[in-house]
Amino acid sequence: MVDSDHYRNRICIVTGANSGIGYAISAELLKRGAVVYMTGRSPDKISKAAEDFSSYGGNVRKLVMDVTKQEDVRKGIAHVAAEAGRIDLLFNNAGVGGTIPFEKATIEDWKKIIDTNIWSVIYGVSAAVPIMLKQGEGHIVNTSSIAGIVPPPFQALYSLTKYGVTGMTECLKYEYAEKGLRFSTICPANIATPIFNKSIDGTAHGELRIPDDAYPADEAASLILDRVSENKGIIVVPEEPYTDMWKGYVLGESVVEDELYKMARQRREAFEKGGSYF
Ligand SMILES: NC(=O)c1ccc[n+]([C@@H]2O[C@H](COP(=O)([O-])OP(=O)(O)OC[C@H]3O[C@@H](n4cnc5c(N)ncnc54)[C@H](OP(=O)(O)O)[C@@H]3O)[C@@H](O)[C@H]2O)c1
Repeated sequence: MVDSDHYRNRICIVTGANSGIGYAISAELLKRGAVVYMTGRSPDKISKAAEDFSSYGGNVRKLVMDVTKQEDVRKGIAHVAAEAGRIDLLFNNAGVGGTIPFEKATIEDWKKIIDTNIWSVIYGVSAAVPIMLKQGEGHIVNTSSIAGIVPPPFQALYSLTKYGVTGMTECLKYEYAEKGLRFSTICPANIATPIFNKSIDGTAHGELRIPDDAYPADEAASLILDRVSENKGIIVVPEEPYTDMWKGYVLGESVVEDELYKMARQRREAFEKGGSYF
């Protein structure tokens, strides 16, 4: 049952809020009455994004932090706790993609994607947990991926980081439940955002080609906030067909295995023709 007032006056932090899912979650939180600290690494981009929501007045706030820098994250989260007096929800959303043949990935690529997708979450969680423990409550929502519960071929780098996020978040969900802390893991499949033409360092290249079956970011945000308010642990977005795919993979169903082998063939062909998959 969705509580329509769940987010009213809640103090929320969203990382990677200037684009895609983070932007859409910020918009939906504001719509539902929350106070939102929109964070991003680029002062210009985050200011521009926050300006889009100026009609929400003091409920929209902005913060510059590069999530690969522990001091940025620690200071940013401490600043919110000091200014707002508490932190109710932290969305560790910032991240980069990485669809690349394993043999083409350099050690630098591995380090970059681990910095952005895993260390960012460790920094955010480590900074927020002591504050939330003092409060006796708080909800941390980490963005993993469908690639954090099902392993898509040609996404070994990305999948490593997202399985890490899923595992860590699920462990903490049980570890802190009796202390009043909640943890959710968002596992989006294809959501229509600018991620599809970005490199591992987040720079855009070529033409943005969003997959035809991509789910709209605003609908994803609405579903995510409904499920977070229900304290769901793993949140698959969209729920179907990907929940069935996840269950089928875990159970070793041949229909999912065949799909993953087919995906591998298609992606290898696309890369061999000199392109990228997307
Ligand atoms: N879209 C999908 O289909 C999909 C599927 C599964 C999971 N996800 C996950 O969803 C999350 C959001 O992705 P998206 O699709 O919304 O992509 P996006 O539109 O590219 O947004 C990514 C956001 O993360 C920020 N970011 C990247 N590196 C950062 C850093 N070092 N410090 C601070 N911010 C940083 C980006 O900032 P800049 O603009 O400055 O680069 C941007 O605001 C990611 O964790 C992604 O892995 C997305």
